[in-house]
Amino acid sequence: MAQTLVASGGARAVAPHGDVVMRIDRLSKRYGQRLAVDGLSLDVRRGEIFGFLGPNGAGKTTTIRMSLGLIAPTAGGVHILGHDVATDGAHVLPRVGALVEQPALYGYMSGRDNLRAVASVLGGVPESRLDAVLELVGLRGRGADRVRTYSLGMKQRLGVAMALLQDPDLLVLDEPANGLDPAGIVEMRDLLRQLVAQGKTIFLSSHVLTEVRQLCTRVAIINLGKLVTESTVDDLLRGHGEFAVTVEQAAQALALVRAQPWGSTARLDGPGAIVTRAPDGRGRDLNLFLVQAGYAPDAIAPHAQDLEHVFLALTGAANGTN
Ligand SMILES: Nc1ncnc2c1ncn2[C@@H]1O[C@H](COP(=O)(O)OP(=O)(O)O)[C@@H](O)[C@H]1O
Ligand SMILES: [Mg+2]
Repeated sequence: MAQTLVASGGARAVAPHGDVVMRIDRLSKRYGQRLAVDGLSLDVRRGEIFGFLGPNGAGKTTTIRMSLGLIAPTAGGVHILGHDVATDGAHVLPRVGALVEQPALYGYMSGRDNLRAVASVLGGVPESRLDAVLELVGLRGRGADRVRTYSLGMKQRLGVAMALLQDPDLLVLDEPANGLDPAGIVEMRDLLRQLVAQGKTIFLSSHVLTEVRQLCTRVAIINLGKLVTESTVDDLLRGHGEFAVTVEQAAQALALVRAQPWGSTARLDGPGAIVTRAPDGRGRDLNLFLVQAGYAPDAIAPHAQDLEHVFLALTGAANGTN
């Protein structure tokens, strides 16, 4: 690692450092007694999809609002492409596309007219650009239809289309997959992959790790306004890898697994299923162990982790809970 972009404490440079597109620097926001964001520092680099994860109330939206200059920080700041958003937002915010929570849409208007309305607020955008962004988000064929006939996924993608109107360098998306059904999540994921392939940088928040694990290169987890960890998704999941095992006589198998040094956190996951760590973290060793013990599994697969479990593991609170 020849990179020295991320300082591990002390003063952090304000100038655009190499490929850092957005730098969140010791950012805090206080609401009364509550620190909604508490000394948060992060660097988002050019061309990555950065996942910003945390449970509801963790401070994601507050951070994003400060990053977009919508509210003022209590302390610290956000620099985008080297400009301080709070003091120099007019310079740089036109290069940022944003979707914060639900997009504000007029149901009685067509998707295209909704886009046109936003475009006129931005000072006008060529009609060809409306076509281009509708095409990008997969709504070209539905652009003339009223938005109230759209699925939630289509509405979210229209929101992304709005964020893309000015062809921004950086997209900031606050829980774009929230409330979407699995098909909608897949469509959103495909869209974001396509945008990154075209050279965009994406900063994406979510409270569901599985939504971003296939998409993001790096993730930061926050809780109570503070950074819990920042790492690649691989590292995050590897450290806490668990397996879902489908097996007959699951209760007996569980008792045996829990008696092993690697199995102390094992638990039932519905009838006939166990979630457990594996010896040395290896699924095939788990399989071997179960077979030799007379509990041949019907299936073993990596357990899709939810954020809560990663959290509990990271904060050391996993023992003794579920
Ligand atoms: N305008 C506000 N006034 C007071 N408290 C707020 C306000 N906005 C957010 N909060 C509080 O700040 C914390 C973080 O909220 P938020 O940033 O919305 O979290 P997230 O987006 O991660 O769910 C929560 O405890 C929330 O209740
Ligand atoms: Mg939020």
